Amino acid sequence: AEILSRVDDILAAHDGLEGPLLPILHAIQESFGYVPQDALPVIAKSLNLSRAEVHGVMSFYHDFREDPAGRHVLKLCRAEACQSMGADRVAAHAQNKLGIEWHETTRDGQVTLEPIFCLGLCACAPAAMIDGKLVGRVDEARIDSILAGVSA
Ligand code: FES
Repeated sequence: AEILSRVDDILAAHDGLEGPLLPILHAIQESFGYVPQDALPVIAKSLNLSRAEVHGVMSFYHDFREDPAGRHVLKLCRAEACQSMGADRVAAHAQNKLGIEWHETTRDGQVTLEPIFCLGLCACAPAAMIDGKLVGRVDEARIDSILAGVSA
C-alpha cells in the first residue's frame, strides 16, 4: 500500500504531461531504486495503456530495473574499444564467478551485474565501474580482486 501511494503521487505529479510514460518510469525508479511490479497495472490504468505495453517500454529501455539492486553494482563496458581489448572474456569471467547474467543480482543480494556502453575510459580498456568508481585495464584477476573487495 505504501508503494502504491507513492506511485499515485508520482502519477499525479505527471498529470497532463505529454508522453508521460518514460518520465513516470524514471521517477518511480528514482524513488524506489527499481520499478515494482505492483506499480505496472496502476501506471497502465492511469495512462490508458495495457500492462503489456508498459512492460514492453520498460524492457526496451535497459535502464529500468525490475528488482531492487544488490548492495554493490558492477558495471562492465560493452562498447567497441573495450571489446577489442578483451571485454567479452572479462564479462564471461565475471558472470561465471557470480553465477549470474546481465541485469541479475547474486542470490545473497551482494552484487548486481550491469552492461554499460562506454565509461569514457577507452584509453584504459577494458573498463569497469564498481559502486560508481571507475576501474581501468580490467582482467580476470582484477575482477576477482574487485569482487573479493566488496564481499569482505
Ligand atoms: Fe569502454 Fe569507452 S569503450 S570505456
